[in-house]
Amino acid sequence: MNVLLKCKTFLKKIANGLFFRRMWSFFDIFLNFVRLIMRGLSVSPAEMHIKILLYMKRLLLSILALSCALSAMAEKYEITTKNTTLLLETSVGRRVEFVYYGPKVNNQDEIYSTSSQIRWNAYPCFGINCTCEHALAVTHANGDVSLQLATYDVKQYTDPDGGRVWEFLLKDRVFPFYVKQFYKAYDDCDVIKTWTELSHTEKKVVVLNKFASAYIPVKSGDLYLSYLAGGWSAEAQLFEEPILRGRKTIGNHDGARTSFNGNPSFMVSLDGPARENTGNVLGGTLSYTGNYDLSFVKDGNANHLEIVAGINAELSQYYLEPKEVFTTPEFVFTYSTEGKGGVSRNLHRWGRNYQILGGTDTRDILLNSWEGVYFKVNQEAMNTMMQGFAEIGGELFVMDDGWFGDKYPRDNGETSLGDWVVCKKKLPEGIGALIDEAERNNMKFGIWIEPEMTNTKSELYEKHPDWVLRQPDREPAKGRGGTQLVLDMCNPAVQDHVFKVVDDLMQANPRIYYMKWDANMSIANASSLYLPKDRQSHLYIEYHRGLMDVCRRIRAKYPDLVIQLCASGGGRLNYGFFPYFNECWSSDNTDAVQRLYIQHGMSHFYPANIMASHVSASPNHQTGRVVPIKFRFDVAMTGRLGMEMKPSALSEKERAFAKRAIETYKSIRPVVQQGDLYRLMSPYDKKPYVSLMYVTPEKDRAVYFLFRRHFIKDEWEEPRKMEGLDPDRNYLVRELNAENPDKKLPIEGKVVSGRFLMQNGLRLNLGKDLSSVVLELIAQ
Ligand code: GLA
Repeated sequence: MNVLLKCKTFLKKIANGLFFRRMWSFFDIFLNFVRLIMRGLSVSPAEMHIKILLYMKRLLLSILALSCALSAMAEKYEITTKNTTLLLETSVGRRVEFVYYGPKVNNQDEIYSTSSQIRWNAYPCFGINCTCEHALAVTHANGDVSLQLATYDVKQYTDPDGGRVWEFLLKDRVFPFYVKQFYKAYDDCDVIKTWTELSHTEKKVVVLNKFASAYIPVKSGDLYLSYLAGGWSAEAQLFEEPILRGRKTIGNHDGARTSFNGNPSFMVSLDGPARENTGNVLGGTLSYTGNYDLSFVKDGNANHLEIVAGINAELSQYYLEPKEVFTTPEFVFTYSTEGKGGVSRNLHRWGRNYQILGGTDTRDILLNSWEGVYFKVNQEAMNTMMQGFAEIGGELFVMDDGWFGDKYPRDNGETSLGDWVVCKKKLPEGIGALIDEAERNNMKFGIWIEPEMTNTKSELYEKHPDWVLRQPDREPAKGRGGTQLVLDMCNPAVQDHVFKVVDDLMQANPRIYYMKWDANMSIANASSLYLPKDRQSHLYIEYHRGLMDVCRRIRAKYPDLVIQLCASGGGRLNYGFFPYFNECWSSDNTDAVQRLYIQHGMSHFYPANIMASHVSASPNHQTGRVVPIKFRFDVAMTGRLGMEMKPSALSEKERAFAKRAIETYKSIRPVVQQGDLYRLMSPYDKKPYVSLMYVTPEKDRAVYFLFRRHFIKDEWEEPRKMEGLDPDRNYLVRELNAENPDKKLPIEGKVVSGRFLMQNGLRLNLGKDLSSVVLELIAQ
């Protein structure tokens, strides 16, 4: 088998021309040998005999030398995208080495001649020579804890989605333990994904103690880390700091809402503090819905950083059965020489084109009922909201929490989760009548659910008390309302129930267009009554396997249903969900000023079309801040615009503004939701202004936003420079969302070159607290 594989590798080398010269000398000898036989008749038999023996000897020595050379020289695997190169080396019997990752290299020799090669193990394992970080650590069936992987084959192919895949097949040198390490490259967005498949044919279970998706070494000293952290109502706060000696971990062990305290995404700037549009930046995100850890370790050498990304194994030791395949989540990474902005644009493009369900679609403008009526849902209140929203151009109405529960009406957060039947007291005519009303108003209809949960006061819990996550011998810790519990998604009966929540609603009301899928509790009781006692450490992993299986079933049956991802706000902002979810509720904090921070953070990794951004009442319900309607709309229009209030609470003037703004958003929606983002002024820059713009990939249209958070007279004003335009094209500038459409800014209707707008910028000085400007730029 080994000989066959060596032959295969050998033939590949010929195809690659890597050993062409050696091959030529080999063929030369062979040809001489044949020539000799041809001439054999003209030489004496004894002479011919000697000559044949001599040639045979040379031939054998040559084959021997060639095979030694082959096993000593590693083959290079160049995984390229439009602007990046990832170079790996391996050959049969050797480890895979991570040689280089960075800007595209046209001549590999330059990597070596400039000492840019790293040459670290691309998937280091615990046990032998493992003083560095490790990606994989196991306990074999016989108690041995070592692994030493060697390549036995490499496969290369193109997937149907256009991604080019490299599959490195590795086996331990002693045990029948196998690792398949995958790299998948997407050319158009400079993104590479990596993950592994782990399996074995040992006699008994092998315990996986650590099983990361990726190990990325970085060779550079002046490194800075950017990442998101926060909590309820303050999601996706951006933190930026130097990477010093020691160990830093971004992690989340919530179990269910695994993006609140830390998002599984980061950027590492390789040349000093990260800048927006210049500098070398590596960005990554772990596409996994469960608990994770991203470690950044700078220990032995000041110029070496080790990044290890994967499932948090500490709380999830996994017992791998013989022949079972454990697939680690995908780690998605990119590299840009255009600073953080370049990394964001790459990830946005990848997300829209390859990961987010319906990622290339534009989204409807919706009104969500939550902040308008909270739990006080009834037919009349819903009708009034729908009519009010329709009058100002709304496209979709979503009925939030409070619509369900028959035996126990859902009047607050203490009851009824699990009882997904309409509350007849509140909605005697049922969901059908609501959809009729939406359609009378030319709108689509959506509905809120929280299917993974229950309350102790619910018919579901009364019937199935064993369906919740809890320890058998303890009173379970409860969540919202002092009664909420998480259902056990490891249990197939619970999975069926969760599938049926969606299925039953859709069967009874096929005209439901949208669902808001919420999850308002952590896994507070880390124990499953379904899993065997000796497999409790599988809980966090099995929960998410169960959840993903249900999502797959739902999507197989309802591919077009639009589903919003929500978890007490933005607690599940994570690419692992997006093959099944279309967008994300960014935060329960709808204060426009706070949203400048939250949306700025989100925008580092996630595109505008998943960023649900709603105009709510003033004073704001979370912060009490009074914010003008224009500022509220302008902020919401930087993402997927919606509303979260009673339209009837708008004054006449505000209503007229809202109507114009909604109409305007419809026209700029493709630019905002599908365009390239340029962050111009960060809310973290302790300056009064915040600014960003979206530009179409063709650079023929752009939308520019400028916000003034506070006003202090006599402050120095700078020209507002733009980015991402075509320097050689002229742009017609139009003001959008003007408070008074008859009195626009002096720049209205002027034509300015892209070069001037980017090099000089515009003098746009806003002389008021909480004022803002939106401009559209149209190439001439
Ligand atoms: C969560 C969501 C809110 C709303 C409520 C309803 O907090 O984030 O938007 O849906 O639940 O209970």
